[in-house]
Amino acid sequence: MKSATSAALLAFATGAFAKQITVYNGCPFTIWPGLFTGSGAAPSQATGWEAAAYTAVTFAVPDNWTAGRIWGRRDCDFSSNPGPNSCLSGGCNGGLLCTNPVSTEGVPPASLAEFTLDANGEDYYDVSLVDGANLPIEITSSTGCHVASCPVDLGPNCPAALQGPYDTTGFPLGCKSACYANLDGNQADSANCCSGSHNTAATCPPSGVAYYSYFKDNCPDAYAYAYDESSGTALWTCATGGDYTVTFCPPS
Ligand SMILES: *[C@@H]1O[C@H](CO)[C@@H](O)[C@H](O)[C@H]1NC(C)=O
Repeated sequence: MKSATSAALLAFATGAFAKQITVYNGCPFTIWPGLFTGSGAAPSQATGWEAAAYTAVTFAVPDNWTAGRIWGRRDCDFSSNPGPNSCLSGGCNGGLLCTNPVSTEGVPPASLAEFTLDANGEDYYDVSLVDGANLPIEITSSTGCHVASCPVDLGPNCPAALQGPYDTTGFPLGCKSACYANLDGNQADSANCCSGSHNTAATCPPSGVAYYSYFKDNCPDAYAYAYDESSGTALWTCATGGDYTVTFCPPS
């Protein structure tokens, strides 16, 4: 402890909003991050913002931020008819701000950084590709916990049945999950979606999920389908007290 001032700041910082998350856009293009809170208190940050290439924002989050999600929107234009289709991938209800974050957390495909902090005495976090992928993303902690990541752009090599949406030049901005692509034609009772008669880990093994290995082989430290905990490399925990950084397009 260097001074009385920093001691006082530290004491202040141990309140309910002691924790910080930094969101860094490492992509060589502008993205529009979105932020969603599943329940309880929300972070100090807006629910959507513009992030120019190579810029970062840092904001406070509740120590027990619950079912929080951060994702990136691509190729957005909010000037007319703001809504989920204002962005070519990852759009939400609203415009720059996601105004209905409870019912939409980004139109799939969207790579998600997910947090449930201080639950059972630990922080839980993961990178989810359960809804598909639209940007490389990783979560690092200030305390050196395991890096949750999908550092690969899964769009260009995405299986044809899952690829898209595309930008105006025909470049793929995402790779859908087999569930979202509705490959088996019935999202209500689907081995790809882990729904209906497949709604448990036992009845929804990864072997029944089409293209599971495309996602998991490229991004082994991310959730590649709804019950991917069984891989042992999907859901991560960290002692409470650290800060986190979400990086889009991390250096590979
Ligand atoms: C988070 O912590 C606050 C303050 O201690 C508490 O009031 C709230 O119920 C907690 N929220 C959740 C979701 O546990």
